[in-house]
Amino acid sequence: MSAVDTMGMLGAVSPMIAFYPDIKLVHMGAALASGGLFALRALALLAGMRWPRAAAVRYLSYTIDTVLLTGAMMLLTILPAGLFANGWLWVKLGFVAAYIGLGIAAFRPRRGTRARILLVAAALLCFVQVYAIARAHHPLGLLLWLGN
Ligand code: HEM
Repeated sequence: MSAVDTMGMLGAVSPMIAFYPDIKLVHMGAALASGGLFALRALALLAGMRWPRAAAVRYLSYTIDTVLLTGAMMLLTILPAGLFANGWLWVKLGFVAAYIGLGIAAFRPRRGTRARILLVAAALLCFVQVYAIARAHHPLGLLLWLGN
């Protein structure tokens, strides 16, 4: 194989791959922090507390989500496209969108308790499905685990 071929092959791998384990750790840590804070805020809101809507808590949540998404974009650019060939990332993104939408709806003011509980439960289920899909690298995620 010529040197040009070798360089071409190496060129396909981003030098950022050296940071892959760290970026993935940050992404996973931010994902758990995002879900954990959402669950905590939602439970406190259902218990009638006011702190979940405080500006400082909202900014903390935006910061965590920014770190989460930045890590996601970095992983996306450094990993080979073949890793996503079975479509798991697209399905995961669908559930991420549902998690965000349901989460926003759950925090709307003047929402009845029953509706809020259902929205929070649905958002958390989507979160768990996102996590399971990511871990399994499979679009079925949770369903795959439950089937075993
Ligand atoms: C609620 C939001 C999210 C959660 C809970 C989450 C969770 C995870 C987890 C647990 C992993 C590690 C998978 C493994 O062990 O290999 C991961 C990896 C990854 N995530 Fe996310 N993620 C979220 C959002 C996103 C978004 C929005 C993207 C958008 C592109 C994304 C892209 C990726 C990529 C590319 C990987 C790398 C997979 C690998 O290393 O094999 N994630 N995610």
